[in-house]
Amino acid sequence: MSDIEEIKARLDILDIVSEDVQLKRSGKNYTGFCPFHSNTRTPAFVVWPDTGTWRCFGECNDGGDIFKYVMKREGWDFPEALRQLAQRAGIQLRQLTPEETIQREEHDTLRKLLEDATTYFRHQLFHNPEGQIALEYLRGRGLEDATIEAFELGYAPQGWENTYPVFLEKSYSRFDLIEAGLASERDDGSLYDRFRHRVMFPIRDGRGRMTGFGARAIDPEDNPKYLNSPQTALFDKSSLLYGLDKARRSIRTEDQAVIVEGYLDVIAPYQAGFTNLVSTMGTAMTEAQLRQIKRLTRKIVLALDADAAGQKATLRGLQVARQTLDRETEVVFDARGLLQSEARLKADIRVSTLPDGLDPDEVVQQDPQQWADLITQAKPIVEHVMRTLAAGYDITDPKAKTEIAGQVLPLIQDLPNAIERDAYLQQLARLLKVDERSLLALRPPVTSKPVRRKPEFAPDRDARTGKMTAEKMLTLPGGGQAHMVNGLEEHCVSILMREPELIYKLDRALKHAELAPVSIDDFENTIHQELLLAASKSLQQDQLSPVSFALDHIPFQLLEKAEKILEQSENFNPKLDHILEDVFRAILRLRETRLQSTNQQLRFLMEEAQESSPDDIKQYNTTMVQNTLALRRIHKALGPQAKPVN
Ligand code: UTP
Ligand code: MN
Repeated sequence: MSDIEEIKARLDILDIVSEDVQLKRSGKNYTGFCPFHSNTRTPAFVVWPDTGTWRCFGECNDGGDIFKYVMKREGWDFPEALRQLAQRAGIQLRQLTPEETIQREEHDTLRKLLEDATTYFRHQLFHNPEGQIALEYLRGRGLEDATIEAFELGYAPQGWENTYPVFLEKSYSRFDLIEAGLASERDDGSLYDRFRHRVMFPIRDGRGRMTGFGARAIDPEDNPKYLNSPQTALFDKSSLLYGLDKARRSIRTEDQAVIVEGYLDVIAPYQAGFTNLVSTMGTAMTEAQLRQIKRLTRKIVLALDADAAGQKATLRGLQVARQTLDRETEVVFDARGLLQSEARLKADIRVSTLPDGLDPDEVVQQDPQQWADLITQAKPIVEHVMRTLAAGYDITDPKAKTEIAGQVLPLIQDLPNAIERDAYLQQLARLLKVDERSLLALRPPVTSKPVRRKPEFAPDRDARTGKMTAEKMLTLPGGGQAHMVNGLEEHCVSILMREPELIYKLDRALKHAELAPVSIDDFENTIHQELLLAASKSLQQDQLSPVSFALDHIPFQLLEKAEKILEQSENFNPKLDHILEDVFRAILRLRETRLQSTNQQLRFLMEEAQESSPDDIKQYNTTMVQNTLALRRIHKALGPQAKPVN
């Protein structure tokens, strides 16, 4: 249980409200005079101990859970309410350890430094006369200035002492400069710039935060051609993918990611409109990298240099693959290793072969259509291997047939799916022009380990979230109304955190239906309200993706819960029309439920107020009429299938 759930479970809302309100039992609920507005005639304040919620049906027309109650009563913000209630519940809130706090601060400083360095290098590129060479180099490679700016490319000046002194003066420490990988230390303790006379490629993580640089030599004599940041607390080549921050959205909307091998192989296609590319940085691909992509799409295309992994390595050492089978983290870069990652990740990995000696960068610049075709024609791994082998052998030669079969059969055998296995077997038979039965006879005895079906890294929610629409949630078995409300709230929050711009669209749709705009009052759970607030705030900035921004701006105790809620929409496609419709309906259902139960409650209150207070009756009546009108508009907006007002 999270701290927050624990607090809700341990504290009795009746105890807390009773400090201010004299509550009277009334069926399953308790009623009293609202502490938030002056009223002494009818008790319009209701508490539901079952769900831990409260609501004032009088003037305030406000309600929520226990957090909201104390926030309203004490004027606390959420973190304060959390602290106070945790203390009251006797719960030790998980705190950042002193080390974690320090580490967070250090990382923030390093990110800030790298961010400032990005600005500095960009400035050098455009305004330092020396930067002209770098600028011309980039233009010479076909990049437009807008692209250079979009990727924030820069120039690190020639010489040993240009960059770091600038930042020492800006109150960064020697330590910061070394830790950020911008400066190195000589034996005598003096510093020197790590990056000199190079084109700088800022490398951000998937959330858009600075982590380090890739730096390309301009002078062909300079070695190495590419110098990256050293491994630092923020820069870990094996888990980062260059360009992911920019490609995220397209990967999700196009439902496909293309993995290439170089910085310019991301940038040049981007300029030509292919924006779903990311690149590794000179290391073998890892499952950590594949997993990050897998959160956005299951369709992955490897577009690898013809000379590198594309051809040779795919075919290289199937033997080596066997020995490295047990290594978990590094994707063994041959057909077998890839197939295993594919099965483990439930991904759809395809390989596209680039023309001999050409990089994606060059292909795209020569002919964008050719690039598009290459990607469309990417082949599943087994097929890729078959074709590549067939191209290299004389397949009429029986020896070659045996050789090819010997290499491909183990791959086919590894496939977890029997139908796929059969299909490939047939394909191989056709390719080699042999009988399928003779292939089967050739099949090596099953000595290889079958593909291990490990527990999934992340629960695969495609099936579930794809279908979890607002309507379906209403018919969830088992749960009562509270369960349904919670489900609908989470559903909306999950999507709006990812795609806060939907809020504008929702508001327009609501306005069109003569209904009030989305607000935190549409949610009963304070956590959901906080998350919605963070999502709306993310609209006022464009540095970070909405999710990153929101996660950075909520109290860290909410992180776990927020991430769980976000998982629900991990695979959703913001392009689909039904998303807006879906959230719209979910919001309406929430309002409908609220209004219906409010009216029920008001009817009850009116009976109670019968003798004592005609004024109250009048007010309740007005509210009921308004609610009923709102309900009508809601039902109209929900369409004919919607249930009539009860
Ligand atoms: P390549 O040598 O294929 O470079 O290395 P490239 O991307 O085609 O570079 P250009 O087009 O000549 O500018 C592929 C990737 O391997 C890493 C870099 O990330 C590079 O983009 N690499 C390469 C290094 O880290 N260091 C090197 O010295 C070379
Ligand atoms: Mn290249």
